[in-house]
Amino acid sequence: MNRDIMGKAVLVTGGAGFIGSHLVDRLIDSGVEKVFIIDNMFLGNEKNLSNALNKGAVLYKDDAEIYSTLEYIIKENQISIVFNCATKALNYSFVNPSNAYMTNVNIMVNLLELQRKGLFKTLCHFSTSEVYGTALYTPMDEKHPVDPTTTYAAGKAAADIMLGSYVKMYDLDAFIVRPFNNYGPRQNYEGKLAGVIPITISKILSGQMPEIHGKGLQKRDFIYVEDTADAVLKLYPVLSPGDTVNISANGMIEIKDLIHKITKIMNYEGQILYKDRRVSDVDCHNASNKKFLSIVPFDFTPLEEGLKKTVEWYNNHLQKR
Ligand SMILES: NC(=O)c1ccc[n+]([C@@H]2O[C@H](COP(=O)([O-])OP(=O)(O)OC[C@H]3O[C@@H](n4cnc5c(N)ncnc54)[C@H](O)[C@@H]3O)[C@@H](O)[C@H]2O)c1
Repeated sequence: MNRDIMGKAVLVTGGAGFIGSHLVDRLIDSGVEKVFIIDNMFLGNEKNLSNALNKGAVLYKDDAEIYSTLEYIIKENQISIVFNCATKALNYSFVNPSNAYMTNVNIMVNLLELQRKGLFKTLCHFSTSEVYGTALYTPMDEKHPVDPTTTYAAGKAAADIMLGSYVKMYDLDAFIVRPFNNYGPRQNYEGKLAGVIPITISKILSGQMPEIHGKGLQKRDFIYVEDTADAVLKLYPVLSPGDTVNISANGMIEIKDLIHKITKIMNYEGQILYKDRRVSDVDCHNASNKKFLSIVPFDFTPLEEGLKKTVEWYNNHLQKR
């Protein structure tokens, strides 16, 4: 494979979200012709794109589950590459399981149908480590069984399988990147859909106690979001159609240790609130990034450094509200 993004028109679905907006920034810096974004603003925020929009990116506040909408945007702008980041956050599946599932499936079938009909050339789809479920062995490589514990992850797994079948049937140029838990600037920190790192930071900043669910022994493998965007662009030219690659820094940490790291960085000496464990919370996510590193060399941002940058961003961002 030797794909090139230079001079191409690119569409990022879910590009006003956390990872998508960082990817948009990277794409703009990488010399694409123009970046288009479709985001229904379910969790996306236009502020995440302020830099990108100033540099000429175009945002469609619209729904990628609607086939004709995607068809129109792709045709109108002669898109040749699509990065599929759109999804409804994992936690949403606890309150609306069927819609969390269907969003992932509907967007994927729309994209694959449009690609099959020749409307664009290359599809880079964002899967998630959640499709593996709780680890049967660690570190989890790409051959780990897929056994989702939430409907969100089931929808992502269905989308992945659909992509594989379309590649086999129609010889499409489509492949899968599978990030593990991301953290960093712009991650949603509000409400039930927020992730553990931004919740903890924002609680401490607003004078509340940080929380640990259960004993905090759940293990996660965190990667700094800018590393993920860089990794995807490094993998883009070389991944084979139908291929899947984990993207992780392979640095497992227990949630309680993570919370303690954050409290230390933020000089928080108050109490921690222990709450009941969330149903379906997977016990362990530790990725093998062997395949990734065998394809591209990479220096990951150390967790401590990434957490410091993240705390600094929320500090500035939340102070301005
Ligand atoms: N954040 C992580 O730790 C993580 C880990 C592994 C995989 N991923 C994957 O990376 C991708 C991006 O995740 P994220 O963390 O940036 O999530 P995010 O929620 O911040 O971004 C997803 C975006 O999709 C948009 N969206 C939802 N439904 C839509 C629809 N019907 N049409 C158009 N836009 C829609 C949302 O508004 C949001 O801006 C997802 O595919 C996710 O599964 C994320």
